[in-house]
Amino acid sequence: MELTGKRIVLGVTGGIAAYKAAELVRLLGRTGAEVQVAMTEGATHFVTATTFQALSGRPVYLDQWDARMPNAMAHIDLSRQADLIVIAPASADFLARIANGMADDLLATMVLARDCPLLVAPAMNRQMWENPATQRNVRQLGEDGVAFIGPVSGEQACGEVGAGRMVEPEDIVEAVIAHFAPKCLAGRKVLITAGPTFEAIDPVRGITNLSSGRMGYAVARAARQAGAEVTLVSGPVAFSPPQGVDRINVRSALDMHAAVLARAADSDIFIAVAAVADYRVANAAEHKLKKDHGGVPAIELVENPDILAEVAALPEGPFCVGFAAESRNLDDYAQAKRRKKNIPLIAGNLIQDGFGGDDNRLVLFDDAGSHPLTPAPKAVLARQLIEHIAKLTGNR
Ligand code: PMT
Repeated sequence: MELTGKRIVLGVTGGIAAYKAAELVRLLGRTGAEVQVAMTEGATHFVTATTFQALSGRPVYLDQWDARMPNAMAHIDLSRQADLIVIAPASADFLARIANGMADDLLATMVLARDCPLLVAPAMNRQMWENPATQRNVRQLGEDGVAFIGPVSGEQACGEVGAGRMVEPEDIVEAVIAHFAPKCLAGRKVLITAGPTFEAIDPVRGITNLSSGRMGYAVARAARQAGAEVTLVSGPVAFSPPQGVDRINVRSALDMHAAVLARAADSDIFIAVAAVADYRVANAAEHKLKKDHGGVPAIELVENPDILAEVAALPEGPFCVGFAAESRNLDDYAQAKRRKKNIPLIAGNLIQDGFGGDDNRLVLFDDAGSHPLTPAPKAVLARQLIEHIAKLTGNR
């Protein structure tokens, strides 16, 4: 698991978003992290310590004078045990206190006494967030090396709309994983395609396939977590882009071709995960086809450009990685595709493993031969693929 062995102290401060911290504890626990919760007095007015104790499996710390620490120094012991302190939600009051180096409760004292990084997820009313005092505190904390995630804009508990909502727990977990991930692609520009394409027959009908986008989005997330600058050219899928990834939405193979070719020469690495339609409809109708007009419509197909092969043929082009989904003879067909498209690396998967679900079974094929990866969630395989690409590209 991504965070096995990592010790995270989660500080919860007073705000309605404290209820989301309960989900955060659960999600962090699922990554293998050891989570120790500490709360301000304000936080206990929104969620009880019992909730966090049940979810983390550890007693929750509430005050500096907690007698459970043999040396009566909870602030020192807790911060020394942590690889990372996360404050979620962080209230305006808490930001003000730590920006000024105050140590007037357990959590603030722990932050002051820490020797590990600090990640803060603010949550407050939009006017409190926009207030020059809060913005001054945020700037100060940024200068002090504190990392921020959010807040985002949206509807607030008070009924107002604006910036100040805490980012979702899933995004905080992603930021924590990114914090610990080896930065093996730092400084590289990575271009990725994901999802299916949709080839219109008429304004409401089309030819598409069962790619969900999960594999491509996992690769984009892993590349970002490895420190790359990531652009994701995505066919129609149901997901939000991973944190920090620049997404370009496209529909057809021709749209994808244009979006990729416009950026490929400026990229260091191109990873083609999309299931691109090999053919499009030559005679797509401008208006909806009517059933009672002229009998069964004849659909004429024309070949789409091969995006990956074109990028691979660019002089001084990026390092190219393809994907191959096959229903049989994976090794032969994937290797044949790798040779035909003239690319150094291809990731093969069987269609019954690859399409749709959260898990996959990948075999990597390169000049050194085949490298089967243990079946795993797409997120895990994506990280292994990125590490393999980093090894093959070295300092290129
Ligand atoms: O999205 P998910 O549900 O998670 O599913 C993931 C996946 C199964 C779609 C993915 O893992 C995968 O295998 N993608 C490649 C699908 C495929 O078989 O593509 P292909 O054999 O048609 O093409 C081979 C390679 O050329 C691919 O990298 C493809 O992106 C690229 N290609 C193909 C045709 C084309 N016109 N342009 C291309 O760039």
